[in-house]
Amino acid sequence: MEIQERAKCVKHAARSGVLEKSGGKTAAVDAPCPGVMIRKARIPDVGAIQQLVNHFADNGEMLHRPLSEIYENLRDYFVAVEGDNLLASCALHINWEDLVEIKALAVADKWQRKGLGKQLIDACLKEARELGLTTVYALTSKPEFFEKLGFRRVQVSELPNKVWGECFRCVKFPNCDEVAVVYSADSAEDVNRAG
Ligand SMILES: CC(C)(COP(=O)(O)OP(=O)(O)OC[C@H]1O[C@@H](n2cnc3c(N)ncnc32)[C@H](O)[C@@H]1OP(=O)(O)O)[C@@H](O)C(=O)NCCC(=O)NCCS
Repeated sequence: MEIQERAKCVKHAARSGVLEKSGGKTAAVDAPCPGVMIRKARIPDVGAIQQLVNHFADNGEMLHRPLSEIYENLRDYFVAVEGDNLLASCALHINWEDLVEIKALAVADKWQRKGLGKQLIDACLKEARELGLTTVYALTSKPEFFEKLGFRRVQVSELPNKVWGECFRCVKFPNCDEVAVVYSADSAEDVNRAG
């Protein structure tokens, strides 16, 4: 697919008239990029997920993930794929009752700003709701991206001790540059109404 065609993805498609009727109102819906599928990760995806995440980790944008960690948590992962090519990944990891984290969010350089990051977050939030979890957090170097999707910034210390209690194990400790963001069902309704 040519770059120009890719640029017609998701948000562009939604903005350019992909509309559906819902509850008597007309709402824009995200259409997938032609040929791109968002699905749960599978064993053959593991190597590509690690390559993608570690590419950005090498630039200090996120944490490196060992293969063992990805295998052990593979059921947490969603991926965006075009045929056999893995374009993006994101994981939803349950810590505790109503404490769930979005992690390992990465979109390949050429595929950024086409709505894939948003689609992966949407998939994670949908799964969180289905599991009965209403509050989702992330520790991120890109808080502005999350804010666009209805998350709000909080102090890490506002999150339960279980989250930051393990920070000392992180390679970035004590010079952490990550920002905590939280999404709750209430803010989701606000964003949906505004959107
Ligand atoms: C951050 C990242 C996941 C965003 O994914 P993406 O697919 O490019 O984002 P989307 O196209 O879905 O963007 C959704 C919205 O967020 C905005 N956005 C995207 N990246 C942004 C950023 N870095 N800062 C602010 N806004 C951003 C988009 O413009 C879009 O807003 P709009 O609908 O008003 O135009 C991607 O750039 C990435 O993988 N970066 C490298 C790895 C990384 O930093 N991961 C996050 C660590 S937690």
